[in-house]
Amino acid sequence: MLPSPVTELAPAKINLALHVTGQRADGYHLLDSIVTFADIGDRLHFSASGEDVFSLSGRFSETLATEAGSNLVIRARDGLRSLLAAAGFETPPVAIHLEKNLPVASGIGGGSADAAAALRGLLRFWQAELPPADLARLALSLGADVPMCLQGTPLIARGIGEDLTPLPDLPRLALALGNPLCSVSTPQVFARLASKQNMPLPPLENGDWIRILPTLRNDLEAPARELAPQIGELSVLLDGEGSLLTRMSGSGATCFGVFASRAEADRAAARLQALKPAWYFQATTTVSGA
Ligand code: C5P
Repeated sequence: MLPSPVTELAPAKINLALHVTGQRADGYHLLDSIVTFADIGDRLHFSASGEDVFSLSGRFSETLATEAGSNLVIRARDGLRSLLAAAGFETPPVAIHLEKNLPVASGIGGGSADAAAALRGLLRFWQAELPPADLARLALSLGADVPMCLQGTPLIARGIGEDLTPLPDLPRLALALGNPLCSVSTPQVFARLASKQNMPLPPLENGDWIRILPTLRNDLEAPARELAPQIGELSVLLDGEGSLLTRMSGSGATCFGVFASRAEADRAAARLQALKPAWYFQATTTVSGA
């Protein structure tokens, strides 16, 4: 019997705070990050096929089309297939379709979220299982942010992103996301950091998030603004819409504003879109940790 089609959402990843606390000998940076996930994202479809196929559609698919062969989704498929084959599972050919709804190289997961969704979706499609430690190792080999995207619920990420602690009491947040659609290179942003030894996150046992989050920062924001001054402009615009907290996610250029309600986030996104038609704006509600 042919495997049944499967669809998997690849939710956008939001770094509510990101502190760079050190650097490993191999050049990767040590982070302390509070991470949550949006209710929007790319979408992956898996269906039975005579041979492996990969196709793309969606608003942001063109930027990826030229490098489709090296796409992280393909690397996830191939890595997972070899682990599953070694464990004795059948992994018949699969047609994977990626609906690219999120801006590429924008600090909200993108490729990492797609890779994680490919792992989740293909395990369902092939009706297979792997020991969690093997899956986590494969995820990390695909990228530092893939393990957190595999989890998909609010968490603190430490190390380079492999040491994950769930944050079940992080509330849902209404956000307006914005991106000036200038892609910034993650390695270039890290390279411009003034200091690689910044304060780690304080202890976060008590769930007074509205008080705690504004005391935290994204250390990558200053170097990213040097590369893309539009990030500063975007932050001012979000503040002007009444954002309670405005920050950049990941290495940028996506910024978010936290709003008191989803209706206010929707209004802010719509107003800013009218003001900046060439930029990306989208309201979203983040997932609950419980
Ligand atoms: O792991 P990933 O491929 O997503 O990372 C892209 C680049 O970002 C790395 O090659 C590295 O230059 C930089 N990076 C880093 N420290 C991290 C994560 C990424 O220096 N924790």
